[in-house]
Amino acid sequence: MPQYRIAPSILSADFARLGEEVRNVIAAGADIIHFDVMDNHYVPNLTIGPLVCEAIRPHVQVPIDVHLMVKPVDRIIPDFAKAGADIISFHPEASEHVDRSLQLIRDSGCKAGLVFNPGTPLHYLEHVMDKIDLILIMSVNPGFGGQSFIPHALKKIAAVRALIDASGRDVMLEVDGGIKIENIAAAAKAGADTFVAGSAIFGKPDYRAVIDAMRGELAGL
Ligand code: DX5
Ligand code: ZN
Repeated sequence: MPQYRIAPSILSADFARLGEEVRNVIAAGADIIHFDVMDNHYVPNLTIGPLVCEAIRPHVQVPIDVHLMVKPVDRIIPDFAKAGADIISFHPEASEHVDRSLQLIRDSGCKAGLVFNPGTPLHYLEHVMDKIDLILIMSVNPGFGGQSFIPHALKKIAAVRALIDASGRDVMLEVDGGIKIENIAAAAKAGADTFVAGSAIFGKPDYRAVIDAMRGELAGL
């Protein structure tokens, strides 16, 4: 069985109590904290930056997975590395120089990821696979929590799984958008090993019950 990881997205957390929210979700079994950064330019929403990453860092004993939905990407990468990010991923169409941005993330001491929107082709991976630690397949169009899972993402996950296996590299395959107890197994069967879930966890009163139910779905595979 692959090592499965549950990555709650704090986009759906109560920002007025963010420290408590991240502590609670980690106590409930979160493997990773997913940190959505939106700039009101690349996506039509505005969220949180390096200051908030730095503020939650002392409360988080698991990796912080920064998902940059910003354009341009390079200027802000070192700031997130200094703020305590462990993984930084970006959308290739938001960078003029994808290889340079990946290298910048690695030189900053973080793991590097590329993110693919539902309509973004996978060919961006072709010449940079050796600089990638994580591939994130979006199963919604980025910008908002609480959207419905786009089923075509399953085909894309399967295609990426084949590419990762062929590369022989240890690359995390993450899925983000509309993940719930009901569809996490389908995403895992397609080849995902890391599951972002925002509204499915933070929208519910008992975080542990949701995370345990998700793990239950994965355990049967
Ligand atoms: C969307 C974000 C997601 C979002 C997922 O642009 O990248 O991480 O928080 O939220 P849910 O799980 O509610 O679809
Ligand atoms: Zn995200």
